[in-house]
Amino acid sequence: MRAKIVAGNWKMNNDKKESKQLIKDLKKSIKRLKFKNTRVIVAPTFVNLSSSIKAAKKSRVEVVAQNMHHAKNGAYTGEISADMLKSIGIKTVILGHSERRTYFNETDASLALKVDAVLANELETIFCFGELLEDRKANNHFAVVESQLTNALFHLNASAWSSIVLAYEPVWAIGTGETASAEQAQEMHAFIRGIIAKKYTTEVADAVSILYGGSVKPANAEEIFSKPDVDGGLIGGAALNVNDFTGIIKAI
Ligand code: PGA
Repeated sequence: MRAKIVAGNWKMNNDKKESKQLIKDLKKSIKRLKFKNTRVIVAPTFVNLSSSIKAAKKSRVEVVAQNMHHAKNGAYTGEISADMLKSIGIKTVILGHSERRTYFNETDASLALKVDAVLANELETIFCFGELLEDRKANNHFAVVESQLTNALFHLNASAWSSIVLAYEPVWAIGTGETASAEQAQEMHAFIRGIIAKKYTTEVADAVSILYGGSVKPANAEEIFSKPDVDGGLIGGAALNVNDFTGIIKAI
């Protein structure tokens, strides 16, 4: 059975002390929750990964990275490699977030290289993608999502998919307070599973966790998570508040 996942993407928020405190508070607030086959993930900024891993010890909170460079090492000032992340105990890396695509010029082609590097290093990725508002308005959203997946992921062989978690994040819903409806999320997630089944097999498609992201809050999480092809959420703003994030975890 594919895993359910609630992942908090902290983006460029929380200094060292705040990161440790938020993890401490989160550990406490989820301690008594009973949940099976469900992963709780937080993604602090690079400089706070080590201290966050330490803070999350002996809990079910997994600490993951927000990004990674594709090269093994070398003259890439300001970048972080897979080896560096692995050396501090990171096992999972978020890739392709829309803010990285928009502000840092990441493309399907550059992301394909990063995905290859993740897999070559036996890491896992939470791979983000999703259409712009103009794509949805033009009724192009299915085509855009299909091309994002085809160009960045469909060169992989079937076995690689056990290291891939997908996060569908319509760009118009990120940080805007506007969520896709539960029906819109389900419709897209079912479409995604369908194209994976067509390219690979139904077994591969059924095993991949597909998260929804974009203004998920405690108030709307339950409805979105109730859909059969929605396996959890990638949470931005609401992940910075322990009560909101716990509320979303409870919803799953
Ligand atoms: P949001 O961000 O929950 O603040 O909309 C989601 C994301 O960027 O992953």
